[in-house]
Amino acid sequence: MNITKRAALAGLLSLGLATPSLAQTFPTKPITVIVSFAAGGPSDVIARLLGEQMSKTLGQPVVVENIAGAGGTAGAKRLVAADPDGHTILIHHLALAAAPALYANLGYDTKAAFAPIGLVNTGPMVITSKLALPPTDAKSFFPYAKENAAKLTVAHAGVGSNSHLCAVLMSQQLGAKFSQVAYRGTGPAMNDLVGGQIDILCDQSTSAIPQIQGKKIRAYAVTSAQRLDVLPETPTMAEAGAKLDMTIWHGLYAPKDTPVAVLDKLNGALRVALKDPAVIEKFKAFGTTAFPEAEWTRDAHAKLFAAEIDKWAASLAAAGVKPQG
Ligand code: MLT
Repeated sequence: MNITKRAALAGLLSLGLATPSLAQTFPTKPITVIVSFAAGGPSDVIARLLGEQMSKTLGQPVVVENIAGAGGTAGAKRLVAADPDGHTILIHHLALAAAPALYANLGYDTKAAFAPIGLVNTGPMVITSKLALPPTDAKSFFPYAKENAAKLTVAHAGVGSNSHLCAVLMSQQLGAKFSQVAYRGTGPAMNDLVGGQIDILCDQSTSAIPQIQGKKIRAYAVTSAQRLDVLPETPTMAEAGAKLDMTIWHGLYAPKDTPVAVLDKLNGALRVALKDPAVIEKFKAFGTTAFPEAEWTRDAHAKLFAAEIDKWAASLAAAGVKPQG
């Protein structure tokens, strides 16, 4: 190389023009999105829907890996151990924020271990039962559930999962203790509800609605302030005379120390996915919604995540719950 060429190359390198930036090269291989619950459940359904759209923007496949167990904390641990290069990410919901108030030995610091990528969706839970359960509406369900609690089985996806927190709130509301059955996710729990092996499940609308519409299970009440357009006949908890507000939300996370350029690129792909008509239509059908566009920033996600960690720590401590294990 002659002196002029070498000088030109040195000039380009100093300007950062000779080597493509990380934001330009990422991703260099398929992206794994960890789902902390079994396949077929609401987190899995949302992850697959988003992954399909995000892969179009990112130019690499987005592959779902279900790592279920311990109320969703096993999958979170797997993310924490992953290389912080953006090729392994996690979808999780409010259980990630509630976990430190429930588990004494998580093996990671929830406030520091995750780099929020962006908020995904927010929606209610629906209290449902197998078709053979005698009460046919919410008004008759609550007294029946209170009277028969000990012999009724309530399914959930492990301590700290949405379905578990909803079951706990329902028990508190009724002053009754159900017999709880833990699953690796509400996907398999829903299968057993449809099959009549368990009695009650409080699940995200995402999973509950298709089964309710298919008349495979019964819906008693939604935990949102308003009825859902897609479930017009199902009353709110307030209409049913009960007090149980619960709104769930999902977000995407990378391990801490993931480069900002990579986080921004993932956030950009998430934004494109959230605007995709197929995603908008599916969210509507599932009774769930994307966050307002002003809250699609990584910063808004980080703020909500930090606030939820504090909120669950305070409310679970006030309820006398201590971290276990
Ligand atoms: C799942 O996908 O199985 C649910 O998100 C679990 C839950 O939190 O109830």
